[in-house]
Amino acid sequence: PTEKRIEDLLAKMTLEEKVGQLNFVVGDLFNTGPTVRTSESDRFNEAIRKGSITGIFNIHGADYIGKLQKIAVKESRLGIPLLIGADIIHGFKTVFPIPLGESASWDLAAIEMGSRVAAIESTAGGINLTFAPMVDIARDSRWGRTAEGAGEDPYLGSLIAAARVKGFQGKDLSDPRTMAACVKHFVAYGAAEAGRDYNTTDMSEYLLRDVYLPPFKAALDAGSATLMSAFNELNGIPATGNMFTMQQILRKEWGFQGAVISDWQNITEMVNHGYSKDHAQAAEQALKAGTDVDMMGEAYLKFIPELVRSGKFDEKILNESVRRVLWLKFKLGLFDNPYLYSSTKREKNEIRSKENLAAAFDMARKSIVLLKNQGNVLPLTANVKKIAVIGPLANNKADMNGTWSFFGEEQHPVTFLEGIRKYAKGAEVTYAQGCELYSNSTSLFQEAVAAARNADVVIMAIGESAVMNGEGASRADIGLPGVQLDLVKEIHKTGKPIVALVSSGRALELSWLDQNIPAILATWSLGSEAGNAAASVLYGEYNPAGKLPLSFPRHVGQLPLYYNYKNTGRMYEGDHSEPGSERVYKSRYRDVPNTPLYPFGYGLSYTNFSYGKLRLNKSSISGNEPLVVSVDVTNAGNVAGEEVVQLYIQDLVGSTARPVKQLKKFQKLAFAPGETKTITFTLTKEDLSFWRQDMTFGAEPGDFKIMVGGNSRDVQTLPFTLTAL
Ligand code: IFM
Repeated sequence: PTEKRIEDLLAKMTLEEKVGQLNFVVGDLFNTGPTVRTSESDRFNEAIRKGSITGIFNIHGADYIGKLQKIAVKESRLGIPLLIGADIIHGFKTVFPIPLGESASWDLAAIEMGSRVAAIESTAGGINLTFAPMVDIARDSRWGRTAEGAGEDPYLGSLIAAARVKGFQGKDLSDPRTMAACVKHFVAYGAAEAGRDYNTTDMSEYLLRDVYLPPFKAALDAGSATLMSAFNELNGIPATGNMFTMQQILRKEWGFQGAVISDWQNITEMVNHGYSKDHAQAAEQALKAGTDVDMMGEAYLKFIPELVRSGKFDEKILNESVRRVLWLKFKLGLFDNPYLYSSTKREKNEIRSKENLAAAFDMARKSIVLLKNQGNVLPLTANVKKIAVIGPLANNKADMNGTWSFFGEEQHPVTFLEGIRKYAKGAEVTYAQGCELYSNSTSLFQEAVAAARNADVVIMAIGESAVMNGEGASRADIGLPGVQLDLVKEIHKTGKPIVALVSSGRALELSWLDQNIPAILATWSLGSEAGNAAASVLYGEYNPAGKLPLSFPRHVGQLPLYYNYKNTGRMYEGDHSEPGSERVYKSRYRDVPNTPLYPFGYGLSYTNFSYGKLRLNKSSISGNEPLVVSVDVTNAGNVAGEEVVQLYIQDLVGSTARPVKQLKKFQKLAFAPGETKTITFTLTKEDLSFWRQDMTFGAEPGDFKIMVGGNSRDVQTLPFTLTAL
């Protein structure tokens, strides 16, 4: 793309055509495939001819999109091709685990591959821009969109954000098998008060910069072509019109040159926030702040031309936004070939291919986290002759794909029951639904109890449906929905060993299960290959190696809950139930410990890893020297397995108080039985840096702790000193 091509085009555009390039509209998701309903095409044809839409989102179909592009190119005055956007969040027709699940793999290459496959398939379906990755930090699992992110940690979240962008965008945006990414939602959307979606956020600039911004920066450094502004208000100002975050941080400090896309009507919603007096003012404020594209609000379309004509809005600002959008279209190769993403041949051959399904299977297995395995109930062996598969998610295709998978077809995913039947060669497998996902009826309990009584092992598939998490799906109670826990309790009374496959798009409250059920696996929403992946783990064909990307609470009342909290003046490490503890004036609850049920970074394996003594190359370093941390890790069991070795630091004294732990490095490694590996991490002063009291970023000399272990709780600790910068 040359600047000149953009400038030539811009010079020819009327004000109406300019705002048209900033107007993004939704299509009819269900009008898919090569056959186009006339009403659908009619709806857009006129607007495309007039040049009053820049693109359409949440549609697909190579032939359909080819026709729309043809109208844009041949029948509009300037012939500008269309952006075709979509929420390609964890796959297209081949559905991968929800992003939170993928994040539990801590496997950056596999995560990148997930986005790669999503890009290959969705571009074959005509799409050239995805509204992903979502990189919002989630510390409160009541928030439904926890499902779409990478969990609670800014370091892990940043690496995953970059991996996803690389997967979607590849090396060259004009390659028809890659698509533009749109990192979202800028910013602090995940900090919604009380976990209620779209709610207000209020936080210090330190917290914003230390925790919420890093994954965005990482995604942009990895090249994300676009960014989406968030629904929430931040410190009194809606994110989409926020000059501080959008202009000062995004454009000035980070130098981001790409297009910013609003979220659905969040420009006009600035009126609801009580920030703009009407849609015209909202349009002015959002465009000034640098929200270039108006998704579904039509505020730019309606008000900006008149504001410019009357001298109230500077056309130069409008031109800048139009340039960014045209640049994106050039970069995508659309000006050279508007039909680049409209290949019916690719659509036929590259969707749900064998390789894509194999990648989804690999990712799904890697996403599963073994939370408990008392008495080695798992893996199942050939001695298990009778299995009862019970629960509302056991034979349920509709809920396997999870949130944001509307391109994935309901009949495709492999259910847990189907997967188990395939792997349980020779064993008798019976099935009982047991209960509905949410209803209060216990009428199916009896049949399930009977099935359990007749089995050697019971596998229960329980948890959330696909619509119980995701956008607009916050929950005040994050336990098992409906009567599912009652069902588990009834089955438990039979005395049979139970394995719980718990699916969710958030950290659930699993205290009763943890106390009573011998084997528990977090199975998120695993996508197309859910059943095969789960069965492969249950039978030990694959040794689970996932680690939690967020803390699981003991009780919903602990939320927000995260491992990288700060000490108070009165921390309490004791047990809430100690005699006399009710008169302790400490930071704690009377009824629940402060600690999580399962900590961040936690996950078991069918083997055991033993950690040797932690070593440092020096006990003090100056700012220019690296600190080398090493530890020997041994697979002490007799099956092969993988371990995620995690390194955390604590800066003991800071000009702004520092968290008790911060993840700074990790390595995921495979071990043969009995094998020992020496793991070495190198830290520099960059890794010790944070936003200091004077709002500069850097380290501060002083004492630190290094902690290494297989999760954020069970670590070995050594001190070291940073002597000077
Ligand atoms: O991309 C999404 C966004 O994350 C939430 N609101 C709707 C958008 C488009 O579907």
